[in-house]
Amino acid sequence: MDMTGKVVVITGASRGIGAAAAHRFADAGAKVVLLARNGDKVAEVAGEIGPAALAVPCDVSRYWEVDAAVEAAVQTFGRLDVFIGNAGVIDPIAHIAEADPAAWSQVIDVNLKGVFHGMRAVLPVMLAQSGGTIITISSGAAHAPVEAWSHYCSSKAGAYMLTRMADKEYRDKGIRALGLSPGTVATEMQREIKASGVNPVSKLDWSDHVPPEWPAEALLWMCGPEADPWLGDDISLKDDEIRSKVGLV
Ligand SMILES: NC(=O)c1ccc[n+]([C@@H]2O[C@H](COP(=O)([O-])OP(=O)(O)OC[C@H]3O[C@@H](n4cnc5c(N)ncnc54)[C@H](OP(=O)(O)O)[C@@H]3O)[C@@H](O)[C@H]2O)c1
Repeated sequence: MDMTGKVVVITGASRGIGAAAAHRFADAGAKVVLLARNGDKVAEVAGEIGPAALAVPCDVSRYWEVDAAVEAAVQTFGRLDVFIGNAGVIDPIAHIAEADPAAWSQVIDVNLKGVFHGMRAVLPVMLAQSGGTIITISSGAAHAPVEAWSHYCSSKAGAYMLTRMADKEYRDKGIRALGLSPGTVATEMQREIKASGVNPVSKLDWSDHVPPEWPAEALLWMCGPEADPWLGDDISLKDDEIRSKVGLV
């Protein structure tokens, strides 16, 4: 897929799936805008990519920071074609009866409200351009409960509904909204899950996880028309049909 002339904003791009996606989209010719809280780390990833990348320190749980980052993207590169709502957290992992209410709420602020903040900030820009793609990183946890992940499962289920909402309200205005459920990926988040030792996911072997370059490749494919049958829905990277369409075999 040639992304020359396209501008892609990625949240949570300081490491893991977001950083791999930033590299992949830049390799495909896009200008990429990298958002994360850790300004040094996100600047480091942007530095590896070069002048096609802009790093913007941003906490997605704060709407005004997301709005300012989107404005910086448009000011710098002149447009905005793809928004990838990837920033996410899972800690602290806890059963409901022991969960810290403030920490539980903070996960909702990042994983659910952060996704809304992104959509809210980019939609006016995309609608003025008569089109754009909004991809949210979803999870199997959006569709099924997982022990001690009530915060995470609830937030991902809500984010999945936001994908459906964006599709319902804006598909006829040229907005492509869809989600990627990446399976288990070898990133910092899986290290935190393993350290918890709580549920079957924490017991998986490290070799069971796919590398972050796999979801990055899928995200690029999702920007093209071949992914249109999945608009308003999640695509699962565990699905063999999807893997072969993306070229991951
Ligand atoms: N790894 C998996 O197995 C897996 C499976 C299914 C879904 N996912 C989803 O994939 C996405 C990426 O996760 P990952 O596996 O790549 O994890 P990761 O390596 O822990 O990366 C998470 C990224 O999100 C950023 N982030 C966290 N809170 C943020 C905030 N408030 N504002 C802005 N950025 C924030 C982090 O950067 P800073 O700390 O610098 O802010 C980091 O760049 C998440 O939505 C996750 O739920 C992962």
